[in-house]
Amino acid sequence: MVWLYVVLVPTQHVLAVTCHPGWYLAKQPSLRAVLQDPSACEGLPGLLEEQVRVCRRRVGAMEAVKRGAELAVEECQHQFQSRRWNCSMLQGLQVFGKVAIQGTRESAFIHAISAAGVAFAVTHACSRGELEKCGCDRKIRGVSAEGFQWSGCSDNLSYGIAFSQAFVDNPERSRGTSSSRVLMNLHNNEAGRKVSALLAHMKVECKCHGVSGSCEVRTCWKVMPPFRKVGNVLKEKFEGATEVHPKQVGSRKLLVPKSSRFKPYTAHDLVYLLASPDFCNRDPRRGVFGTSGRRCNRTSPAMDGCELLCCGRGFHSAREEVVERCSCKFRWCCSVKCKQCRHLVETHSCR
Ligand SMILES: *[C@@H]1O[C@H](CO)[C@@H](O)[C@H](O)[C@H]1NC(C)=O
Ligand SMILES: *[C@@H]1O[C@H](CO)[C@@H](O)[C@H](O)[C@H]1NC(C)=O
Ligand SMILES: *[C@@H]1O[C@H](CO)[C@@H](O)[C@H](O)[C@H]1NC(C)=O
Repeated sequence: MVWLYVVLVPTQHVLAVTCHPGWYLAKQPSLRAVLQDPSACEGLPGLLEEQVRVCRRRVGAMEAVKRGAELAVEECQHQFQSRRWNCSMLQGLQVFGKVAIQGTRESAFIHAISAAGVAFAVTHACSRGELEKCGCDRKIRGVSAEGFQWSGCSDNLSYGIAFSQAFVDNPERSRGTSSSRVLMNLHNNEAGRKVSALLAHMKVECKCHGVSGSCEVRTCWKVMPPFRKVGNVLKEKFEGATEVHPKQVGSRKLLVPKSSRFKPYTAHDLVYLLASPDFCNRDPRRGVFGTSGRRCNRTSPAMDGCELLCCGRGFHSAREEVVERCSCKFRWCCSVKCKQCRHLVETHSCR
């Protein structure tokens, strides 16, 4: 399995490229050198050959790739904040060399969200006119059934998707599609893009024209939804992911549901090969943080509850002072005056 993406670690200005085995993280002062001189792509540590080629041809898109990776990491951490595995594997080097999640549904989610993030960020860059080689989608034009005018500048996801395929999939594919892990990753990458494409066609933004905003004429264009929506759908796909195993069909290897009782999966679903570990106990060698020290909710029966999150080890409680603005009053005109209120809240964290 190879999987690659470029991550900016927020505090360190680091260009991190993860790939297995040994995800790896390389210090990179900034992308500026590369943007000025495509031959610097070779110097980006951690990019695979195919990616260096994409980088050289599409140097202007590298900033968007980085943004896409950031979107993916932020979204992953948001979606998994109250689970035992909270996606912070993406943050540190030591932890990451390791492989507890390989082949699991967590890995499926990371692949899908990363491929989607790159497609998304590159598309945004296109619509804003930041990339030479692409622009708006001008096929949607004329007058709509609802009577408004299409503006001729809709988000063009097709370029972003093609870019994501080249940057995220090609290195993977070059390792050979006879590997089950590679097939799994490629499927999940594509599922992430398919989900984005599906959502991308649903949102329309409009602007009114006419005397003092009378809206006699409206021009509209299609926009991508917030990335959060992609995250929400992919999280549902994670919950409903299908366990598969490889099966030789003629000359091809396919991934088929492990049990015939499972429903067949579609191109929009996530698949995985291995059951996840429980992620309960710290195991740095395999890249597992463990849940000790994690905040939990004493009354919740769900995964964020102390019972499940702490894996039955119990929890510590503490009182913490919280300062909040309160008794706010509006003063004519125009300010709001508040008092500061302090109160104690009880917090719980896993043993
Ligand atoms: C979107 O971008 C692709 C690739 O640059 C281009 O071929 C296509 O014409 C654009 N889409 C539309 C419908 O304009
Ligand atoms: C995830 O959990 C680990 C400890 O298990 C913690 O150190 C880290 O800050 C958490 N990450 C996020 C993004 O909440
Ligand atoms: C804890 O969980 C309960 C039950 O699910 C919920 O009502 C409550 O808002 C949660 N508390 C916090 C602090 O998130």
